[in-house]
Amino acid sequence: MKRYDGEVAVVSGASSGLGRRLALELASRGATVVGLARRKQLLVELAADLQARTSSSRTMECDVSDADAYRDVLAQIESDRGKLDILVAAAATEAETRVPGATLEDFRSTMDVNFFGVVAGTLAVVPGMAARRHGIVVNVSSDSARAPAPGGAAYAASKAAVSAFSEAVAMNVADSGVRVHVLYPGWVPTAMGLAAVERGMPLPPKPVRRTEDQIAELVCERMGSDAIELNASRLPVMAPLARAFFPKAYRRSVTKSSDA
Ligand SMILES: NC(=O)c1ccc[n+]([C@@H]2O[C@H](COP(=O)([O-])OP(=O)(O)OC[C@H]3O[C@@H](n4cnc5c(N)ncnc54)[C@H](OP(=O)(O)O)[C@@H]3O)[C@@H](O)[C@H]2O)c1
Repeated sequence: MKRYDGEVAVVSGASSGLGRRLALELASRGATVVGLARRKQLLVELAADLQARTSSSRTMECDVSDADAYRDVLAQIESDRGKLDILVAAAATEAETRVPGATLEDFRSTMDVNFFGVVAGTLAVVPGMAARRHGIVVNVSSDSARAPAPGGAAYAASKAAVSAFSEAVAMNVADSGVRVHVLYPGWVPTAMGLAAVERGMPLPPKPVRRTEDQIAELVCERMGSDAIELNASRLPVMAPLARAFFPKAYRRSVTKSSDA
């Protein structure tokens, strides 16, 4: 089991789902973890669970769509702890954006959290990591980036932007000792995953389903390697190929799924 003793890790979206599980896993493996999110009561509970693993861990309230506030929080953590080794950006929101119906503001608000939150976090931590020649950033994307569903234009666009941004920056900073990864978790039964099913998305096939435990273990074992993509499931990697070679069949299957 890979350990992170002495490392300082920040996890956004730590109040629930994948972010919470990842924060706990990192603390169990010895890291000092600072968990960020907006819901106070959940952060209080998380802080107690984190401190039972590493006493130096804590939580802080932070809305990642407020880029200035988020940058200040990260700077404060880096200054208080003397360094910041790992940033896991799991904070995101998903709302239906069907056209016609969805407004420009719906798209902007999704991008502010899902994309500009990721950009703000990455830009804030990379300079210090590069100066110390050590650091890991894990930006959470989604299979929607490769295979958008008809009712999820804003979410899919934001995740495609996260993927492109992260991959470009990963190559950009590789020589400075900083590793940037983009995580594709498959489908996980978190609040967000279950809400999509409640809205009518069919339960994804078994090869795509993962648990929070599986994702936390995969990330903690593989991050820091030279691989840019962390794929929890291989099946969705085929989506662009299916689209290129069987466009009509691909489109029929995606449209049918979303109408179900
Ligand atoms: N579940 C899946 O099947 C699946 C599949 C692919 C990708 N993902 C990605 O995995 C990541 C984690 O999602 P999840 O499934 O664990 O969903 P979740 O349980 O709904 O967690 C989302 C987290 O994001 C936080 N968040 C939302 N808006 C925020 C904001 N403005 N500022 C700070 N934090 C914010 C929430 O905390 P607060 O509300 O307390 O702020 C919460 O902790 C997301 O990036 C999601 O897109 C999930």
